[in-house]
Amino acid sequence: MNAVHKIETVHWVGDVDGQLVLIDQTLLPVAFQEHTCGTVEDVWEAIKMLRVRGAPAIGIAAAYGVCTGLQPFAAADHDSFFDRLDEVVKYLAESRPTAVNLFWALDRMKRHASAMRDAASVREIRIALLKEAQAIHDEDRRMCHEIGRIGAELLTDGQGVLTHCNAGGLATAEYGTALSVFFTAQDQGKQVHVFVDETRPLLQGSRLTAWELKQRGIDATLICDSMAAQVMREGRIQAVITGADRIAANGDSANKIGTYSVAVLARAHDIPFYIAAPSSTFDLSIASGAEIPIEERASEEITHGFGRQTAPEGIAVYNPAFDVTPAELIKAIITERGLIEPVSVQTIAERIGGNA
Ligand code: MRU
Repeated sequence: MNAVHKIETVHWVGDVDGQLVLIDQTLLPVAFQEHTCGTVEDVWEAIKMLRVRGAPAIGIAAAYGVCTGLQPFAAADHDSFFDRLDEVVKYLAESRPTAVNLFWALDRMKRHASAMRDAASVREIRIALLKEAQAIHDEDRRMCHEIGRIGAELLTDGQGVLTHCNAGGLATAEYGTALSVFFTAQDQGKQVHVFVDETRPLLQGSRLTAWELKQRGIDATLICDSMAAQVMREGRIQAVITGADRIAANGDSANKIGTYSVAVLARAHDIPFYIAAPSSTFDLSIASGAEIPIEERASEEITHGFGRQTAPEGIAVYNPAFDVTPAELIKAIITERGLIEPVSVQTIAERIGGNA
């Protein structure tokens, strides 16, 4: 599949009675196909099954999911409408536990509706909620470009960089967080060579990041996760940049399983390890990464990945989808509000404090 595609991770079609359309990421890189969500159950399923994934994209999809879930209550009275809003928000919040952007977006939608409760009709509130979802979407787009601009300053021409999982356009409104840094560096005329961890078990690196980098003509080399140490020792990597799903008040950062090992390897080889994430990924209500809920996914993702059995029947399996990189391994966090360096409770509060 060599065509160049416009990456519109999610978009809303129509007015308040419209539908959410998203790129079905489970089919990439073999097929580029859109998936329409006409009900809130469809949106929940799309998030749960990773048709749409990546912390910011999950938040955006969930915000539109709220609009979808309220459609059958267009003619309801205020009390039933707000009961339904609570139900829809609770339901969507159960789709995935780790990325805080999901809860951040749902909370923002709920607060927006509550502020209008006494002064507006149900239809007016529905229209305002769709606008709020679109605002979340647009803000993410802007944050990604700003992260790219700030992060690109850290890279110089000819460097090798490693990334893990997919923190690209597919994981956000567009352009990405970690990948935005590479795209912006390229726009500035810097040649960077990106090493892409394949990212077991669901291969977001090889299926999605490698695909996005090829789409944009960035030099990239795919490696298995277990090869990162060797590639670092060979001197091919001068920086590591990944995204994040939730960043605690002290800077501990949850991201795709395997990120922590990459950060340990980077420290062992004296390579700077950066996180690129928008302010919506910070959770200042928790003091450290120990409080971040880590999603556990089905054992079949390991034993029967992509349709083929690769482990003996009945073997015990542990499949945490995320891990937490301690703040002391992170050189800086690249946010749309500027670079957070060093990473500490104080520097995070200074930059992100207004967001909690
Ligand atoms: O399970 P996924 O594919 O949703 O995990 C995604 C990641 O871990 C990303 O690195 C993270 O959400 C940052 S996306 C800008």
